[in-house]
Amino acid sequence: MIGRRIGGALVVAVLASTAFAAGPWSVEQDHADMMRQLGITQLRPGANGDPSAPDAANYDEAKANPYPAWPDLLKMADGRPVTTAAMWREQRRPELIGLFEREVYGRIPASVAGMTWRVASVDREYFGGRPVLAQQLVGHVDNRAAPGIVVEVRATLVLPADAKATVPLLVMFAPARYPSPTQPNAAEAARLDTALKAVLISRDPTFASIFAAHPGFELVKPGSVFPPPPEDERVTKLIAAGWGVALLDTASIQPDSGAGLREGIIGLVNKGAPRTPAQWGALRAWGWGASRLLDYLGTRPEVDAAHVGIEGVSRWGKAALVTAAFDERFAMVLIGSSGEGGVKPHRRNFGEKVENLTGTGGYHWMAGNFLKYGTERGRLGHKTANDLPVDAHELLALVAPRLAFVSYGVPDQGDANWLDQQGSYMATIAAGRAWTLLGGHDLGRGNDYATAVMPSQGTDLLAGDLAWRQHDGGHTDAPNISHFIAWADRKIGRRSGR
Ligand code: GCU
Repeated sequence: MIGRRIGGALVVAVLASTAFAAGPWSVEQDHADMMRQLGITQLRPGANGDPSAPDAANYDEAKANPYPAWPDLLKMADGRPVTTAAMWREQRRPELIGLFEREVYGRIPASVAGMTWRVASVDREYFGGRPVLAQQLVGHVDNRAAPGIVVEVRATLVLPADAKATVPLLVMFAPARYPSPTQPNAAEAARLDTALKAVLISRDPTFASIFAAHPGFELVKPGSVFPPPPEDERVTKLIAAGWGVALLDTASIQPDSGAGLREGIIGLVNKGAPRTPAQWGALRAWGWGASRLLDYLGTRPEVDAAHVGIEGVSRWGKAALVTAAFDERFAMVLIGSSGEGGVKPHRRNFGEKVENLTGTGGYHWMAGNFLKYGTERGRLGHKTANDLPVDAHELLALVAPRLAFVSYGVPDQGDANWLDQQGSYMATIAAGRAWTLLGGHDLGRGNDYATAVMPSQGTDLLAGDLAWRQHDGGHTDAPNISHFIAWADRKIGRRSGR
């Protein structure tokens, strides 16, 4: 019995050591490993962001649509038209989900471990005079299968403390920090100041003369009775409107680099081995983390779990869309400046291209299989964006009939042309058919994406359940947040500020 136990322990020890004996692993090594798995010998380079480069990104609208025939949203792969809501739900949606999982964003392995949330600390803060309960949450992922890989997901939950009813809540992909942390009072600051000076004098006794010469000098000052305004105006506006906010730190779920694919939740499931081609990339991993946070929010009596949204900008805008597309429990999504891999059509050649996300800079966001579509030479032959069985309008359509707000800024203010605002508008127009089929409302501008022209900046297309607004700022969604709140409150039948 003892011998068998020892034997068992040895086996565990050997498995554990092979599981995380990863050693240094670079983006280049990981990318090359995925090319090898797919038999790719040459990938095309991405568009160059430098306009003077010979391979500069295209910004000529006349050349932007080399593949104008996009896959038909309402046609099954075998050609049958999708004519009813039931057919969408039972056949087309699952078909699209399967294709996006296999070819674009990757599948979540069935063996992914569970997460246990705890409240690590609590801060009672004020936003514009409104009391909030702020809590640091930590989601621990069971890592007994590979103890060398630790995944502790960090989130900050911010709830209005004076709410009369449950609150809708926006999960934001953002650093998980207290948004307006309380500060030490005068007595606490004085104690800290005295202790800090003593420590410094013990390190270097000559400091004593400096402190003696300046008796009023404070290393630690008391916090103001008026707390500092929160850094993020979006959080302030949401709280003022009576919403809750949860800031979710994506890096704590999955590192934002190909070099990190043997770590984080992706690495944990693979016990430290590199990904296989159909496995998930970082966008889905971040979305998985958001889904686990939603599980937890459902246990909080303060939260109206039927009205939780997801938000992100740029790579997090892509992640917000992916999250809402796959997890139907999210009632709404605010997609900020998402570009390629988000709302921008893969088939458009304007700014960033598929090839930019098959190279070392962004491939880790996607499934390994996505590399096939940037292939010049390889076992599977030459493939382009036009070989993708799906496109961005179909990803957006997976959110239907729920609430989806597509947000961009203007290139002159820093929301670069690179993101292809016009193409993203075309995709939003094309996606609208799913809302109509399911009894919802699209942008109200028809569905002919080929002739659709983006309306001028500031035009509110906020009547439908699918909404579009280009604000007058840069690479952020902050100028759109009050529009988002008013639109979402109206759609869910709620008065702002309750
Ligand atoms: C780059 C990249 C985009 C991405 C953006 C970001 O511009 O090409 O795809 O969205 O970085 O900052 O997330």
